[in-house]
Amino acid sequence: MKTLSSLLFYILLSSLLSGFRRAADTLSSNGTITYGETLESSGQSFELGFFSPNNSGKWYIGIWYKKFPEIIVWIANRETPLRNSSGVLTITPNGDLAIMNATTGDVFWSSNSSKNEPAIVAQLLESGNLVLRRKDDTTQNYVWQSFDFPSDTLLPGMKLGWNLSTGTNRYITSWKDDNDPSPGDITFRLDNSGMPQFILRRGSETIYRSGPWNGIEFSGSIDWKTVYTRIFVYNNQELYYMNGVVDNLIITRLTVYPSGSVRQLILKQGGFSWTVMDSSMNDQCDDYGLCGANSICKTKSRPICECLYGFVPKSQSEWDVRDWSSGCVRRTPLSCLQDHIKFLKLGGVKLPDLLQFSLNKSMSLKECQAECLKNCSCMAYANSDIREGGSGCFMWFGDLIDIQEFSERKERYIYMRMAAAELSKYIQVYLRTEFEFFFYVGQMINQNIVLA
Ligand SMILES: *[C@@H]1O[C@H](CO)[C@@H](O)[C@H](O)[C@H]1NC(C)=O
Ligand SMILES: *[C@@H]1O[C@H](CO)[C@@H](O)[C@H](O)[C@H]1NC(C)=O
Ligand SMILES: *[C@@H]1O[C@H](CO)[C@@H](O)[C@H](O)[C@H]1NC(C)=O
Ligand SMILES: *[C@@H]1O[C@H](CO)[C@@H](O)[C@H](O)[C@H]1NC(C)=O
Ligand SMILES: *[C@@H]1O[C@H](CO)[C@@H](O)[C@H](O)[C@H]1NC(C)=O
Ligand SMILES: *[C@@H]1O[C@H](CO)[C@@H](O)[C@H](O)[C@H]1NC(C)=O
Ligand SMILES: *[C@@H]1O[C@H](CO)[C@@H](O)[C@H](O)[C@H]1NC(C)=O
Ligand SMILES: *[C@@H]1O[C@H](CO)[C@@H](O)[C@H](O)[C@H]1NC(C)=O
Repeated sequence: MKTLSSLLFYILLSSLLSGFRRAADTLSSNGTITYGETLESSGQSFELGFFSPNNSGKWYIGIWYKKFPEIIVWIANRETPLRNSSGVLTITPNGDLAIMNATTGDVFWSSNSSKNEPAIVAQLLESGNLVLRRKDDTTQNYVWQSFDFPSDTLLPGMKLGWNLSTGTNRYITSWKDDNDPSPGDITFRLDNSGMPQFILRRGSETIYRSGPWNGIEFSGSIDWKTVYTRIFVYNNQELYYMNGVVDNLIITRLTVYPSGSVRQLILKQGGFSWTVMDSSMNDQCDDYGLCGANSICKTKSRPICECLYGFVPKSQSEWDVRDWSSGCVRRTPLSCLQDHIKFLKLGGVKLPDLLQFSLNKSMSLKECQAECLKNCSCMAYANSDIREGGSGCFMWFGDLIDIQEFSERKERYIYMRMAAAELSKYIQVYLRTEFEFFFYVGQMINQNIVLA
């Protein structure tokens, strides 16, 4: 009994002591952090220090959630681990943040931010941002910040995307595997080939994309609504995406995983388990180009792949065994004569990938159609911006890749070039029952047939 109460007393005392011995959030000039020492952000959300994943014998300086030390949100020396824990994190006399061998002075990693200013301090902010600033400067005019050099996690306030004046793109890169934080081959970034869209890649191969920005949102992405805000900035200087928090009761992060997925996770303040709010693997149709060319992926149908109207499987035998990779080809070859062309309007879809396309942001839909009609290899067109009734013109050439039906109705239409003969067949087939007609490709309605 006596031992138990003294044990309890000891636990109480030590927790009180560790409470009082709270780590600082700032590393001053010439200061060091060695193994076992940490910086803590002022509100105790984040902690910075040395860690070694799975006793790998490799040591890194990282930032983690104080409550979830296993979730590393940023790593300084991803590519240059220390071989044992005897290194130090320090601010060099030049004002660089560096990881060094304290004995030999060898530098493993440096912020390379050197302004040759001695009075530089490093501070771990409550946002999880590690910043270098001049000692007396309390503005946000940082000399350097970790938020500019993302690892695999996007925290609220961190920009994913482009500084357009310098052409630098900030994106997140997965770990090599669950135990190796060196950069893996999965990346999640904002592509900017005319119209921005998020792309998840394995090496150079696309494995998921959000669909292009449409003036309001990324067409393929889910509405997260009230849990956290999504900020998208597109002007002459910058193009980026950022998560914001709606209130302080929610913690959120966007993380890219070595298995080839990206997930938006949230945690209620005080909670213990993270909830996946959105993912590049929400359903099978998120798998890039699953259904091959000129097809549509419909999560709720069985089989999930269908050829677009007017197209047939390139290889019926492959299609029959649900190997969709060879895609679909036109049933009726297209004529170049303008009288023989009509356009079919599809609603509620993720627009095809921007592989061979053109974009003119000032064209109207009517001009867009006229332009598409003129060019024999134009396969489809759509408004690039859906705001205020729609504006701008996308034209696709060649095969249409990665079209997906949305589960919820979205105001996004694409107009597909058809042989006029096909379209009259379409009217006969699908007007037979209004029900069938209405639900073809989700949101087919009467006005969907646009006569060129
Ligand atoms: C840091 O160390 C260098 C070299 O030891 C010294 O010259 C400098 O005054 C120190 N700076 C501060 C702010 O203590
Ligand atoms: C840790 O590393 C060992 C040896 O490499 C490996 O067998 C084990 O699966 C790893 N543990 C985890 C949790 O990944
Ligand atoms: C680091 O490794 C060296 C030898 O390589 C050894 O002398 C030293 O004790 C090690 N330090 C720690 C903290 O393990
Ligand atoms: C620092 O250098 C010493 C001497 O070469 C070496 O024993 C030690 O392992 C090194 N420490 C690190 C972290 O590499
Ligand atoms: C800093 O500069 C050195 C030398 O140019 C380079 O090897 C190193 O990769 C740079 N570090 C970072 C974090 O960019
Ligand atoms: C883009 O980068 C340059 C050079 O680092 C910097 O001066 C500028 O402020 C950046 N632009 C924005 C909008 O952050
Ligand atoms: C875009 O369309 C407008 C209106 O049709 C036209 O005046 C302009 O020349 C086009 N721009 C380009 C780059 O083709
Ligand atoms: C059709 O568009 C493609 C792609 O923009 C272009 O290369 C080709 O010259 C155009 N053809 C005609 C006849 O305008």
